[in-house]
Amino acid sequence: MASAKLLRQLIKTGAEGNQDAFHQVSQQVIREERAKQHHLLANDLEKILYGRPMQSDLPNFPFPQHVPTDRERNLPLLEMKEPLRRLEDVVLSDDTASMLDELLQEHHRADLLKSYGLYPADKSLFCGPPGCGKTLTAEIVASELALPLAIVRIDSVISSYLGETAANLRQVFDFISAVPMVVLFDEFDALAKERADEADHGELKRVVNAVLQMIDNYRGKSLLIAATNHERILDAAVWRRFDEVLVFEPPNLEQLRRLLAIKLRGLRREFEIDDARIAGLFKGMSHADAERVIRRAAKDMILSGKEFLSERHLRTAIRREDARKTRVKGS
Ligand SMILES: Nc1ncnc2c1ncn2[C@@H]1O[C@H](COP(=O)(O)OP(=O)(O)OP(=O)(O)O)[C@@H](O)[C@H]1O
Ligand SMILES: [Mg+2]
Repeated sequence: MASAKLLRQLIKTGAEGNQDAFHQVSQQVIREERAKQHHLLANDLEKILYGRPMQSDLPNFPFPQHVPTDRERNLPLLEMKEPLRRLEDVVLSDDTASMLDELLQEHHRADLLKSYGLYPADKSLFCGPPGCGKTLTAEIVASELALPLAIVRIDSVISSYLGETAANLRQVFDFISAVPMVVLFDEFDALAKERADEADHGELKRVVNAVLQMIDNYRGKSLLIAATNHERILDAAVWRRFDEVLVFEPPNLEQLRRLLAIKLRGLRREFEIDDARIAGLFKGMSHADAERVIRRAAKDMILSGKEFLSERHLRTAIRREDARKTRVKGS
């Protein structure tokens, strides 16, 4: 939180209607928050002040204006996202972190590789259960490489008319060839499942094969990432097409401690941030589940008028989360 002196200045300049001074003090607050590693808060404040994050090392993305749509239903085939989160926002196993680092290095130093006739890996498969960071990591790859992120929704691409599906795919691949970007084929399982299904429609199977072929033949400037949480149903033909496979697993105790340190940043607590016993409360949860529990506990703390987050808030939120899961399973 900004220092008392800055807050006083901020409110004073705002109340006096002194726009220039208000801007300057706001910028100082943002700098202070960024120095404390509160990047999400700093980005949020910048968005309020300028309408978008201005962090000097965040690039100005060449945002393509018109994303292609499915002609039949007029649904966008891709979703363009401005990547904001950075490497320090993700907690990964050592193996996955080092593979990610390698991938980024290859792209940062692509010119050197090319001078030896080599090319950086540009087709990766992200596997693992829900909520363990596949989509987040695709966003981080984009932000670290200063590229826009395009998320291909396979379910929008697949049309009830097979001819239309092929046309949609062609549109997607034309689009991602035009401007370099990170392209995430999210819920890749939607395709893979069709392929694994024995009773599959022959035409659809051909479409699935066409996608794999297109990924295989893709030689554009974009980096392709396919994400799935059903890696077991992918056959060898699929695996073979990717240069790298990154596995995202639920966090172990040490990773949970690191995750809590990130997610509890900026919250006043009654316990130490690296308390192993506290991390133990989250055992078995995915990163996304742990994040949801913390959000729930923080809300509880605020609404009950408390200033400090306690173990009790966390335990109550975990119980509610368990009840939610039981309801979801039961429904
Ligand atoms: N490894 C992680 N480190 C830090 N935060 C994480 C991590 N994994 C997930 N989260 C948090 O949970 C949110 C949801 O995770 P994400 O969408 O990346 O999961 P996913 O693996 O893509 O899941 P799904 O298979 O359901 O698509 C993220 O936006 C992030 O806030
Ligand atoms: Mg995802």
